[in-house]
Amino acid sequence: MSRRHPIETAVFPVAGRGTRFLPATKASPKEMLPVVDKPLIQYAVEEALEAGARRLVFITGASKRAIEDHFDSDRELENMLQSQGKSELLKQLRGVLPSYATCIYIRQPAPLGLGHAVLCAAPAVGDQPFFVHLADDLIAAEEAVLAQMGRVFTTKQASIIGCETVPRSDTDKYGIVATSGSGDTLRIESIVEKPKPAVAPSNLAVVGRYLLSPRIFEHLARIGRGAGGEIQLTDGIARLLVEEPVYAYRFRGERYDCGNKLGYLEATVAYALAHPELGRPFRAHLKKIINATKTNGAARSAAKRR
Ligand code: UTP
Repeated sequence: MSRRHPIETAVFPVAGRGTRFLPATKASPKEMLPVVDKPLIQYAVEEALEAGARRLVFITGASKRAIEDHFDSDRELENMLQSQGKSELLKQLRGVLPSYATCIYIRQPAPLGLGHAVLCAAPAVGDQPFFVHLADDLIAAEEAVLAQMGRVFTTKQASIIGCETVPRSDTDKYGIVATSGSGDTLRIESIVEKPKPAVAPSNLAVVGRYLLSPRIFEHLARIGRGAGGEIQLTDGIARLLVEEPVYAYRFRGERYDCGNKLGYLEATVAYALAHPELGRPFRAHLKKIINATKTNGAARSAAKRR
């Protein structure tokens, strides 16, 4: 018998208000923003499935119906594509969610913070380690980052947090860890939410990938509001690592922060260039724009010199 992957459940907190993307996110969730031809949440689900998860728990909030609709089958649309002979599109539509995966939707009553959103998943997760995936951190990687973390788990049997080095000036945008050891997998000694660069214990930042022990729920249930008046996952992890080892894992991959506009644009360009059908014509179009910009720039400088 083949060995089953130990992590079966992935939690997707999608109840944030996405204020940095207003007005685009007023009535439509940030996680439904498309990068080329798939919404962010679709990339997230594909990554979790690649890592072996089969139970997908979405923590939803206001204006998130579109996510449920996206993963529901749409018989009317399928019948239409079938009658029009659009078999490739039909295949893509049916592939949005494979039949072996189960979706569970839990409503977060108010956006009280990421820690609170994760706590809302407790009844669906039970007493097993689980993944948490933040869809707005899109990571292009040869092997899905959650799958990389699943492999690390098989040797460490402990919570693992996806991390990457950031410029020191940016520490106040992330959870920051102090670690011991060397290599890709480091023991976390302490963790702090959004420290100012001058007091940050390092510049190793937590990004939106976690593999957590179910003990986290007990801590999240006990901690109060932290930074920004929210129940912070970082504070729950800080309590967890007092009683259990927690590791920082430097994943292999290129991360795009699609929660902000520039990161989202960078992701769109990178994914469009890598797209099997669009890559070539899009590259040609970009070259045209760049050349036109250069020519115009040169003409403006020449005009100034005259
Ligand atoms: P963010 O910090 O990006 O917050 O949340 P946000 O509300 O989505 O976006 P901005 O900052 O207002 O633009 C990180 C992740 O945690 C989820 C979000 O959906 C996002 O995936 N989250 C945050 C919740 O599910 N519930 C919350 O109460 C807060």
